[in-house]
Amino acid sequence: MFCISHISNYKFNQRKRMKAMVINQFGGPEQLAMQEVAMPSPGSGQVLIRIHAAGLNPVDYKIRNGSMKLITGRKFPRILGQDIAGVVEQAGKNSKFRPGDRVYGMLGYQGGGYAEFLAVNESQLAPIPEHLSMAEAAVTPLGALTSYQSFKIAGGLKAGSRVLINGASGGVGTFAVQIAKALGAHVTAVCSARNVEFVRSLGADRIIDYTTEDFTNLEPEFNIVFDAVAKSSFQKSKKILVKDGAFISTLPLHGLFFYQFTNFLRSQKAYFSAIKPKGEDLMVISDFISKGLVKVHIEKTFPLEQAARAHELIETERVRGKLVLEVIS
Ligand SMILES: NC(=O)c1ccc[n+]([C@@H]2O[C@H](COP(=O)([O-])OP(=O)(O)OC[C@H]3O[C@@H](n4cnc5c(N)ncnc54)[C@H](OP(=O)(O)O)[C@@H]3O)[C@@H](O)[C@H]2O)c1
Repeated sequence: MFCISHISNYKFNQRKRMKAMVINQFGGPEQLAMQEVAMPSPGSGQVLIRIHAAGLNPVDYKIRNGSMKLITGRKFPRILGQDIAGVVEQAGKNSKFRPGDRVYGMLGYQGGGYAEFLAVNESQLAPIPEHLSMAEAAVTPLGALTSYQSFKIAGGLKAGSRVLINGASGGVGTFAVQIAKALGAHVTAVCSARNVEFVRSLGADRIIDYTTEDFTNLEPEFNIVFDAVAKSSFQKSKKILVKDGAFISTLPLHGLFFYQFTNFLRSQKAYFSAIKPKGEDLMVISDFISKGLVKVHIEKTFPLEQAARAHELIETERVRGKLVLEVIS
């Protein structure tokens, strides 16, 4: 079995190749294969990171199976992985980072996280909060940024706002509940019965078990409905929004683009939240983490070699919190 810890002391600047988990064509989890690829070399404004851990997100399997090929293109081999934590190996003279700094960040559709090294724009990175492990840091950026950036849409979530979060037990939802609470909102969280106690522990004020109750039958009391798992729609959810409330979803389904483009016609708004890698926003998340307002929940850790097993699990849509791949164990 390949073990990256055996080569962790090998000097990167003597190396021309690195190990990475790649796909060479679209398909199932079995397409993921460990391969030697060229070492990345940092361009202007970039730093070279030695990756310690990579977080998993549903977008990883959607890229792997080809359902996002219009956005990602068809270039192979492709290294998946949009969330990373690691240590800066090489930084330019004017960089705000120094070799040895612990950093984390979100990468975007180009991926590159399931590998030993990565060259990345430093604007996408932030220092890892002191007490966060590499694994915890690696699973944080995409889920936390999706929540935080969604709450900035449409005038933003304010202290005292009433927000409903659908999919509160998932990779996005667990951060959304905690960030909404950190911003001072009253949070109604939707999850299934088996996750009720877990979601309560995140700080939700009220919990709706979606297996016994349809949240779209609640009173029209919400300033924001955040559909973290994109299982509902603007049409169904607008009934429970206040007059100028907003529905925000993580996927542009059920005519959401149409409703967003025609927002000027209605007082209730609809938005698709397209997340952007932004170190500046990640600094806000770091601050919440440092103050103990946001905690990280990892359901399972896999070595990088077992990325296919991790993909099988995340594709079930049943993960509680996050999954992580350890690149250095
Ligand atoms: N726009 C963007 O930039 C962006 C960013 C991040 C994510 N996304 C998308 O957002 C979606 C969610 O991402 P994620 O990371 O949170 O996924 P995830 O972690 O895989 O979600 C799994 C969780 O969803 C819950 N769930 C499943 N079906 C549900 C339902 N019908 N109602 C309520 N909860 C349900 C599951 O709990 P139970 O087992 O209890 O049902 C589980 O805890 C994905 O499709 C992802 O691609 C988009």
